[in-house]
Amino acid sequence: MTTTAATAATTPADGAFLKAVRGEPVPHTPVWFMRQAGRSLPEYLAVREGVGMLESCMRPELVVEITMQPVRRYGVDAAIFFSDIVLPLKAVGVDLDIVPGVGPVVASPVRTLADVEAIPDLTPEHVPFITEAVAGLVSELGATPLIGFAGAPFTVASYLVEGGPSKDHARTKAMMFGAPDVWDALMRKIAGIAAAYLEVQVAAGASAVQLFDSWAGALTPDDYRTAVMPHSARVLAAAGELGVPRIHFGVGTANLLGLMGEAGADVVGVDWRTPLPAAIAQVGDRAIQGNLDPTLVFAPTEVMTARAAEVIEAGRAARGHVFNLGHGVIPATDPDQLKRLTEFVQGYRL
Ligand code: CP3
Repeated sequence: MTTTAATAATTPADGAFLKAVRGEPVPHTPVWFMRQAGRSLPEYLAVREGVGMLESCMRPELVVEITMQPVRRYGVDAAIFFSDIVLPLKAVGVDLDIVPGVGPVVASPVRTLADVEAIPDLTPEHVPFITEAVAGLVSELGATPLIGFAGAPFTVASYLVEGGPSKDHARTKAMMFGAPDVWDALMRKIAGIAAAYLEVQVAAGASAVQLFDSWAGALTPDDYRTAVMPHSARVLAAAGELGVPRIHFGVGTANLLGLMGEAGADVVGVDWRTPLPAAIAQVGDRAIQGNLDPTLVFAPTEVMTARAAEVIEAGRAARGHVFNLGHGVIPATDPDQLKRLTEFVQGYRL
């Protein structure tokens, strides 16, 4: 079924994004971009001047402004809440910072059961600024849905155990293999924090949630299934009980997509390395999200849009398809090129 702009959505539930997520007919393939807010936008750099990353996440007026910036500029079909996967840890008192050009850095990495037990559980009282920011956003966004998010237990554990970004996640996996009791306690701790953090966002009005397991691709399917999936499943189940759709995303997950769906996702996010037909074969009767290579925005526009058309066409075989990049917007991206990409996807006749 094709509709025209005359039947534009009046609530998030009527819009292309939530329709695609539910597997219903859409007026156009909905589109948003991971990291659509951030360093690729001059207006972001302007409001962030002199304000630390985590501090900006705790100032509701800044969160509202930064989340709205790409919505205004591109007219994307969904907003992603401006925050970070380590913000809830900071909120409960873990000593960490986000270092520009590096990423999250944890002062005292977690290595023992006592280290895990020292991390408090998250309650809404830890994050009143999140409730305020989400509520402010929902009223400003009108019919555009807000996607809330949390980091998945494995990816957040990697920052806590390594103490910072890691290529091989060696210490994290060493704990998983060699200290299963500590690992289990840590994963339960993070899962509880993630579930509580998502609940705050949904209670304040978020229309959907995304669980980012960015580094799950470091795991074999067997290790993912036994040591990680049950904990992510708990977070996704908790979000499901709140009645919102759940997107589950990771990078390098070609062999994990089926399990990531089974963990309790309504939509499985796919990075650009996995062709959508292969992804769809794995996820079965679920919607998919993705997966244009984020570097294609640096190619000539007609090359980018030709590849985007291939992604849209491939997505038609899925239960539903949300267009996105296969990972976050690269900071050097020209915003005008993302605007052209948004218009192309929304104008593409299905
Ligand atoms: O627009 C959006 O997508 C919403 C905001 C968002 C941020 N981080 C803001 C941010 C989201 C959804 C995240 C999630 C996140 N954070 C993930 C999962 C997504 C992914 O990319 O796989 C991960 C792994 C992190 C951890 C993290 N935080 C990294 C690796 C970095 C980048 C470090 C750097 O400087 O290169 C951050 C910092 C961060 N988070 C920035 C932004 C806009 C950049 C900080 C800045 O602008 O000063």
